[in-house]
Amino acid sequence: MVQLPDAVEDRAADLPLLEFLLPSLLKLKEIPCPVALKESARTKTPHFVLLGACHPMNVTIVDYNDPAHRNQVIALWESVFGYETAHNRPALAIDKKLAVNDSLFFVAIANDKVIGTIMAGYDGHRGWIYSVAVSTSHRRRRIGSRLVSHAERALTARGCVKINLQILERNESVCAFYSSLGFSIEKRISMAKRIPQNIPPA
Ligand SMILES: CC(C)(COP(=O)(O)OP(=O)(O)OC[C@H]1O[C@@H](n2cnc3c(N)ncnc32)[C@H](O)[C@@H]1OP(=O)(O)O)[C@@H](O)C(=O)NCCC(=O)NCCS
Repeated sequence: MVQLPDAVEDRAADLPLLEFLLPSLLKLKEIPCPVALKESARTKTPHFVLLGACHPMNVTIVDYNDPAHRNQVIALWESVFGYETAHNRPALAIDKKLAVNDSLFFVAIANDKVIGTIMAGYDGHRGWIYSVAVSTSHRRRRIGSRLVSHAERALTARGCVKINLQILERNESVCAFYSSLGFSIEKRISMAKRIPQNIPPA
C-alpha cells in the first residue's frame, strides 16, 4: 500500500481529491508505476495498491546464481558504481566471492531481472556488507532495505555480533539510508592495502 503524506491521509474519505492529487504524490515519492484505488473487502476502507512489477511483493531476494545473474549484476554495478580500479572489476569481484563459497551474495529480482545486489562477509569476528546497489528505476521502494535486512539475517544466523560497512566520502548522503536501518556512524579511519599479485590484468 502506498503511504501518503499525513495531510492527505487525514482526508482519506475525500476520494475525488485523492485521485486528483495522486499523480503528483507518486512523482514526489518517485514511484513510477500505476496504482489502483481499491476498497478493502473486510473494512471497506479505500486504499491505493501498486500494480504489477512495481509492487514490492513482486521483488524476491535470492542467492546469486552464476551464470544466470552474472551479466546483469555486472551491468548493474557498472552503471551504479562505475569503479575504474582494477581490483574492483565486477567480474573479478564476483569470481573472488564465488571462490569463498560462503553463500553471502544476494540479488533482488523483479520480472526475472536483477534489480539489486548485496554482498556480505563474515570472518568470525565482524560481519561486513558490500556492493549494496539498486537500479535507479527501482529505488525508494524499500528494496535496498530488504537487501540489507536479508544480509543482516544471514550474518546473524552465523553468530555475527557486529556488522560494519564503509561509505565513500563522496557518497555521504547514503548515510541516511543506513541510519534508517539502525546503523550509526562510528569515528574510524579506514586504511587499506592492495595485493597486486592477486589482481589479474584486465
Ligand atoms: C542506497 C540504495 C541502495 C538505497 O536503495 P533503495 O531501495 O532506494 O532504498 P530504500 O527504498 O530501502 O530506502 C529506505 C529509506 O532510506 C532512506 N534513503 C534511501 N536512499 C536515500 C538517499 N539516496 N538519500 C537519502 N536517504 C535515502 C530513505 O529514508 C528511505 O525511505 P523513504 O523512501 O521512505 O524516504 C540505492 O540508492 C543505491 O543503489 N544507491 C547507489 C549505490 C550506493 O550508494 N550504495 C551504497 C554503497 S555504501
